[in-house]
Amino acid sequence: MKWKNKLADQAIWSGEISNRDRKDKVAQQVSHFVKNGDVIGIGSGSTSFLALEKIAKRVAEERLEILAVPTSKEAEMNCSYYGLTTTSLLNHQPDWGFDGADEVDREGRLIKGRGGALFAEKLVMASAAKTYILVDDSKHVAKLGEKFAIPLEVDPRAVHLVETTLQKFDCDHVQMRMAKAKDGPVLTEAGNVLMDVRFAHIPDTLEKELSAIPGVIETGLFIGYSVEILTV
Ligand code: 5RP
Repeated sequence: MKWKNKLADQAIWSGEISNRDRKDKVAQQVSHFVKNGDVIGIGSGSTSFLALEKIAKRVAEERLEILAVPTSKEAEMNCSYYGLTTTSLLNHQPDWGFDGADEVDREGRLIKGRGGALFAEKLVMASAAKTYILVDDSKHVAKLGEKFAIPLEVDPRAVHLVETTLQKFDCDHVQMRMAKAKDGPVLTEAGNVLMDVRFAHIPDTLEKELSAIPGVIETGLFIGYSVEILTV
């Protein structure tokens, strides 16, 4: 039986969408790749939300059957709002996926995780044969780390250990991400904290080196995955 309540009867996107016109255009591009029967990884963040909106429109108009693998509860609720059937990595491997990014350099290396969904985003990206990265031109940087710190998802018990271990790295600044009201740290869906770490120089090896620190669940550095950058 379907729920008759209405509270969840709206798409979830909190706040204004910056650069909306350009995000809309790049979101439109990825909607053309959807084929009947596809299992698609659904990214998180505002650009992914706009892409989902456009994909859902095609699915409804052309009566396509697809399965969605959401990378966050936010994405899962939006899939539900748009009537898309969701599945998980336990049951399906995505044929392809799409996601946004905070920074992308000329080699296609990414910083992600402003929305804190980096762990599931990386699981889905690593599982998919290909992921389209949807970025407006404000996301392109000459030097990775130029604007954004690298988010680390960290088990709360490991905060001191991670902070101490980071002193051996060549990092400039470490900050715990705080909730807007500043009354406590931001917690991820898995109940972990986010430590934002700034580096002046980001070698390809850094993702693995940071991941090797005990207590680091995942990093927001995405290097060497099978991605295609779509941009406007
Ligand atoms: C969330 C992400 C987002 O994809 C990234 O922050 C880009 O967001 P937006 O499309 O809203 O600019 O990595 O964890």
